[in-house]
Amino acid sequence: MGLMMKLTRRRLLATASASMVPRSVFASPDMPPPRTLTASEGQVQLVTKDYGPTPIWGFDGQVPGPEIRVPQGARVRRQVVNALKEPTSVHWHGIRIANAMDGVPGMTQDLIQPAAHFDYDFVAPDAGTYWYHSHNRSWEQTARGLYGPLIIEEPVPPDVDDDLVLTLDDWRLAPDATIAGGFGNLMDASHGGRIGNFVTVNSDPDHAIGTAAHARLRLRLINTATARIFQVGGRGITGHVIALDGMPLAEPAAFDGFVTLAPAQRADLVVDLPATADAEPALISRERDGDYILTRFLLTGTARRAPQQSPVILPPNRVAPLDLDGAMRVTLSMDGGAMVGLTGATADGRQQSMRELAGQGLVWALNNHAGMPDAPLFLAERGRTMRITLRNQTRFPHGIHLHGHHFHEMINGRPGPLRDTTLLQPRETRDIAFVADNPGKWLLHCHMLDHQAAGMKTWFEVA
Ligand code: C2O
Ligand code: CU
Repeated sequence: MGLMMKLTRRRLLATASASMVPRSVFASPDMPPPRTLTASEGQVQLVTKDYGPTPIWGFDGQVPGPEIRVPQGARVRRQVVNALKEPTSVHWHGIRIANAMDGVPGMTQDLIQPAAHFDYDFVAPDAGTYWYHSHNRSWEQTARGLYGPLIIEEPVPPDVDDDLVLTLDDWRLAPDATIAGGFGNLMDASHGGRIGNFVTVNSDPDHAIGTAAHARLRLRLINTATARIFQVGGRGITGHVIALDGMPLAEPAAFDGFVTLAPAQRADLVVDLPATADAEPALISRERDGDYILTRFLLTGTARRAPQQSPVILPPNRVAPLDLDGAMRVTLSMDGGAMVGLTGATADGRQQSMRELAGQGLVWALNNHAGMPDAPLFLAERGRTMRITLRNQTRFPHGIHLHGHHFHEMINGRPGPLRDTTLLQPRETRDIAFVADNPGKWLLHCHMLDHQAAGMKTWFEVA
């Protein structure tokens, strides 16, 4: 029997130039050198020992890369060294960051060439769960493992017994347990993206957490997959969703159904473990063909505290209030992909046929433009409230990510939760609104990374 069948059964079952450094963070002479974060090849034992380790690309040779954890408002400095054979860059996803540190090659910085480095230096204004990942050829580099958690701690952390990061990923493995090739092919790009065949939590297909009965855990879920949408539920545990995409929920939602996580989205849960292991407490992933275990909780000690009931409420991060009456309105139509297709679109400054576009790997368009346009989607004066209508006219879901800002999902005409990535189901339309208060040039793109590569990206400017 091939590995794929076993896998399927086993798992899917059960140096910056000085001018680029913001003035506020100029190094003082006695500043120690930044720590390094090296993009390199490495190996991770993903599958059972019978198969040997899987060659990956990772930060410091690991997947996930090292957890970066700092207090809110702290400065983060990392010298990213490129030990790969191809250029890279690092994006600090969800951080309302100084533009020059956003990690977008060709827009905010030059590529980090092999053997070169780039000094990232920024302030993390918001407490919460964030992550960093490659932003060059990201559909391949991130899929090969170039990502890691970035945790910004609240000044007064909530009262929990443990605070754990869980990166949810899927891998497309070949029968010898190496990462399958075929990155960026048009078949994946025009459908749901590169969906893997092997699901892991923190690169472990059999992930388990040892904890005490009645323990209260904060779980920081990060969907690091490039295409898979996870639906995460609990078994034998109770709890609340206390934050989404790093931003606290004013009213935590009971964790009794499934939390949907599009690629790049995060959810912070606080869960309470039961008194005994009878219920086999676990996090589960709902797939089309059933529920699979993501993480098991192994109750090792006895209860250390009385059972908890009340949800944890985190203090809000400071985000400018919306002025919806004075908002500039923009519509973003999402078109293309399999089953509907583009009849044509603008690319490279001229109207092109579907055939011409596909020849360049372009199958998606935003406002009838495929790939990065020369002109921004909009130019906002700093402080302007923006209201963008996202119109998914395709037959596929898309997770749309805005750089440099968090936005409110508008729900029934009112501002809902703050997010940095919003999931639109096929033919769904949703408004998002935010105050464009972070100056610079910023990307807006689908975080199904093959879709982005195949045309689904644009940019805007705040000046
Ligand atoms: Cu997490 Cu432009 O991406
Ligand atoms: Cu998409």
